[in-house]
Amino acid sequence: MRIQIINGPNLNLLGVREPGIYGDKGFDEYLHTLRDAYPDIRIEYYQSNVEGELINKIHEVGFNLDGIILNAGAYTHYSWALTDAIKCVSTPVVEVHISNVHKREEFRHQSVISCACAGVICGFGLDSYRLAVEALKQMK
Ligand code: DQA
Repeated sequence: MRIQIINGPNLNLLGVREPGIYGDKGFDEYLHTLRDAYPDIRIEYYQSNVEGELINKIHEVGFNLDGIILNAGAYTHYSWALTDAIKCVSTPVVEVHISNVHKREEFRHQSVISCACAGVICGFGLDSYRLAVEALKQMK
């Protein structure tokens, strides 16, 4: 099984950025733990702060992998271009958020990408990504 994790803007600063909300662990460290937990799954990782690069990545991997785990960061709340990109591809996309966006500012309550995704996991810290792997395993 092959899964692509795609992290959007500002998620390169996990561990540094607002640790009270996003925790104090960097994503690279977490990725080691996640890969160790799933030795039979090939988990690829990509991060970009640029909307078009996220779209290019979705197009690149979205026809031949078993799943995409997408944390689109703030693009979640307004990028119709990302919504369309997810709709373009055949690989199921699970939307994830580290924080519980529904407990936060109102602008975070809306996701324009959820309607194109297989499902949404939010609010479990970095464990949201592991839960998304579990969801994709069940879908296979
Ligand atoms: C986030 C929530 C978004 O509202 C925010 O813009 C992020 C991270 C999360 O993982 O909790 O960058 O997607």
